[in-house]
Order: sequence, then structure tokens, then C-alpha cells
Amino acid sequence: MAVLASWVWVLAGCFSAAVAEISNISAPYPPLWEDSPEQLSDYRLEDGKHTIDPWVFTDRMGMYRILLKETATYFARYGPENEQNLLWGLPMMLGWQYQTGRLADPTGMTDCGNAHEDILCVSVDSWWADVNYYLSVLPFLAAVDSQKTGISPEQITILPPPKDQMRFCYNFSGCLSAFPKTMDKWKDFFQYMQLPSSDFDGLLKKFWDAHTSSLEYPISAFVDRYDYYSDSEANFVQKWAIAIYYLTVARLPTTLSRSYSFQSCLPPRILVDTDKAPFISDFTPLQNEVLIVLKLLGYTDRLSGSLTLTIWESLMSTKVARELFLKVFEKILGTSP
Ligand SMILES: *[C@@H]1O[C@H](CO)[C@@H](O)[C@H](O)[C@H]1NC(C)=O
Ligand SMILES: *[C@@H]1O[C@H](CO)[C@@H](O)[C@H](O)[C@H]1NC(C)=O
Repeated sequence: MAVLASWVWVLAGCFSAAVAEISNISAPYPPLWEDSPEQLSDYRLEDGKHTIDPWVFTDRMGMYRILLKETATYFARYGPENEQNLLWGLPMMLGWQYQTGRLADPTGMTDCGNAHEDILCVSVDSWWADVNYYLSVLPFLAAVDSQKTGISPEQITILPPPKDQMRFCYNFSGCLSAFPKTMDKWKDFFQYMQLPSSDFDGLLKKFWDAHTSSLEYPISAFVDRYDYYSDSEANFVQKWAIAIYYLTVARLPTTLSRSYSFQSCLPPRILVDTDKAPFISDFTPLQNEVLIVLKLLGYTDRLSGSLTLTIWESLMSTKVARELFLKVFEKILGTSP
């Protein structure tokens, strides 16, 4: 329980920073947002198909920009300027990965994402980039299929990476047959938001359900990438993969400002072996704390055979509990430095 309590505490601290600091300034958009495609026709047309290269940062970010734009109308009733759109969490995390060097080639064998002239390159050897593929390409194709935009998802082609092509899918029918359950969950989320009867809590649930489903395959498929990282970063990656389940259960509302402030708690660069939390001097106290708690959480989760997650699930099982969790801590921590 102590671990859960500290986990809740830190998480809430991250989110409360949002409320305290940016309740009246709008959070900045993700990096290179304005340089990314904002409509399908901004992508190259090859053989009559819109061709997206998700191994180029702006091409990948563009899928999110289009998603956010196309779904804005369904979130308008929850707040102005699309602030309340739950999809913000995805481009925000991708932006954090880019800014912290996590999309670059971790092996250092290529310039991909590392050298200035190749800075937009997204490396297939990056664990973060591989996992994000399932949180960008899949929802994007599902959305095109679900929205009444007049564009068939079959008019879109996704370009393959230089290696491990068998681990990815490249078009709507390919993704649907390889990951039917995940594609269905994303379609369900996009179709639900178009219903007049949809509500915010329902959106939250369907969003996190689809998110969880998207992660199932890549989290088990890309464990071979751990070898490319320092022990500290590899550890962070593994703990993060566990923490995501806890985040899912809490159904945190990944709106623009909340997602933005959440980032401020995450390591601002790739961890090296000399990094020992809580003594990483160029990290904030909160960033150090998050690493400690992730470590504890991973440790307890393994020891207890995920019993901790079960307890957490039952704690968070009602809407009232989840709202209370968010409110109480935003209130307490919102006033502390
Ligand atoms: C936010 O708004 C409050 C009052 O509405 C004001 O006192 C405060 O200075 C504002 N903060 C920022 C950062 O603009
Ligand atoms: C879709 O991608 C699969 C491989 O994932 C390929 O076999 C198939 O031909 C592609 N379909 C179209 C219509 O391009």
C-alpha cells in the first residue's frame, strides 16, 4: 500500500503542476506541430495513395495533427480550443520522446535522429518509436475508417522501416487483419465520440481501452531493444511499460495542459549508467522522485505477481474514486511549490 500511496502522490504531483501553473495559459503544442501535415493532401501522393513515412518525425506527428483537427468538433462541448481533446496525450508523449532524444538510433550505428542533417529520422531500433507506432498508425487508420471524411483508408499507405518489416503493418486491411481487436477498439472510440449521447467518462474509458490494446503486442515484441540502452534507461523502459497499466486504470484525462505538465515529471534526456535517482543533479526533484517510484512500483508488481495492480484496479474501480483521486491531490499539491 505504501508503494501505491507514493505512486498516487507522485502522479498527482505531476498533474497538479498543470492545474497550478497553466490553468490560465494555454500549454504549448508539441514540437514541430506547425511543420507537420494537417491534412491528408499534405502527404506525398504515390500511385494514387497518400504516402506516410512514420520513420520521419513530422510525418508521424502529422497523423496526430490530423486526428486532433478532425476530432475537435466532438470535444468542443467540454472546453474551448480543443483543450479537452483526450488525444493530446499521444502527440505530447511523442514530442517528449523526440525532444529527449528517445526516437534516435540508440545503437549509435547510424546518424538517424542523432546528426543534425538527420534530426527528423525516427529509428526502428528505438523502443519508444516502435511502441509509439502502434499508438499512431493504428488509431490513425482506424479513425480514417470511422470518420465520414469521404476518404477510404485504403487510399493511405504507410512506408516500412529499413528492417524488422514483419513486425509492423502498412495499410488499413493489413493492420485490421494483424491486430483486429486493437483496430476495433480504436474504431469503437472514434465512432462513440460521434454519437450525440457520448459523454466524457465514456470517452475516457474507450480511449484507455484502445490504448491498452495497442500496447499489448509491442510491449512484448520489442524487448530485444532493451539491449541497445544503458542499464538505467533499459530499467526505466521496463518500469514504464508496467507503469502504463497503472496509468490506464486511473483513466487520467489526457487533455492538452495535463499531458503537457505530465511530461515535466519524466526524465528530460536518455538515462546513462551514472544516473542514480534521487541524485541526478540535472533533473528536478519531481523527475528524480518519479524514477524512484517507478522502480518501487516495478519491484512490487513483480514480487506480488501484479497483486498491486489488482488492488489499484479495485481502488480505482469507480468514477467517484478516480475523480476524488484527481481532485484531492490537485488541491493539496496545487498550492505547494
Ligand atoms: C492566472 O490568473 C490569475 C488570476 O486570474 C493571476 O493572478 C495569475 O497571475 C495568472 N497567472 C499567469 C501565469 O498568467
Ligand atoms: C497491405 O499491406 C500488406 C502487408 O502488410 C500487403 O500484403 C498488402 O498487399 C497491402 N494491401 C494493399 C491494398 O496495398
